[in-house]
Amino acid sequence: MVNSNENTVITKAVIPVAGLGTRFLPVTRSVPKALLPVLDKPLIQYAVDDAVEAGITDIAIVEDTRPVGSYFHSMPDLEGKLREGGRNELADQMVDISSRARITSIKQLEPLGLGHAILLAKNFIGDEPFAVLLPDEILWGDHSSTAQVLDVRDRYGGNVIAVTETSWDDVHTKGIVAGTSVEPNVIAVEEMVEKPKREDAPSNLAIIGRYALEPTVFDFLSQQRRGAGGEIQLTDAIIDCMNELPTHGVIVDAARYDAGVPEGMFGATLHQAAKDPTMRQMIVDFAAEL
Ligand code: G1P
Repeated sequence: MVNSNENTVITKAVIPVAGLGTRFLPVTRSVPKALLPVLDKPLIQYAVDDAVEAGITDIAIVEDTRPVGSYFHSMPDLEGKLREGGRNELADQMVDISSRARITSIKQLEPLGLGHAILLAKNFIGDEPFAVLLPDEILWGDHSSTAQVLDVRDRYGGNVIAVTETSWDDVHTKGIVAGTSVEPNVIAVEEMVEKPKREDAPSNLAIIGRYALEPTVFDFLSQQRRGAGGEIQLTDAIIDCMNELPTHGVIVDAARYDAGVPEGMFGATLHQAAKDPTMRQMIVDFAAEL
């Protein structure tokens, strides 16, 4: 198989965030879903942190009319005020947020799907392999999930996707992969399908929003074929690449919360809150009361 980019280190990532966020109405009437907080940090920040920990330096945020990338702008006035008030630690944290990676905003003004969002980043990426992170999927482990995906790509080349077992009741809401195990937690993908009916799903291994992709995907995304839900699907472009490139799935070692739905957001909030002794006690007391 030809894979000319095999030795190229991935430094760029695309984070698509456009979308109506209908499962979070009414708050998403004015706040983009990627800016909804899990405690004090918005979803987009968790995704950027996951990318930066994996060595990503340049990130394109593909957003609709409501800006998300501006969250990462530097805020000298705020930083100055915080320092005047002696709140240097918080000021340093603000500086860190705006300097973690170079952030570029790209507009997706038509809701044509995830594949379309990635296609819009083609010029930003150029002819090099890149990462994609979906901020709805919160993955917390000892190591960044993006780093785990990039590690498998370093060893096998081609396209690599983070996956996890999901409930059979949910397979129709996800991209699903099936294949042969090549080492613990790594499979060579043989089948992939976007949002299959439960009876058509080849497994219950779901795609969970961390990808390492070769620029070959743009050749197929450019054809703008419509797939599941009438949208241009990233999963379909990855399937199209399978004749030319190896494709692997990594069962990432991380706690996963699907913050695309309120229950997942609530679970992620409990996970973070339990790290703080006071809030942990509040959870325990509340549970006892229930
Ligand atoms: C997207 C992908 C799907 C993946 C999911 C993960 O779907 O198309 O393959 O399983 O993200 O959350 P979406 O949730 O945007 O419909």
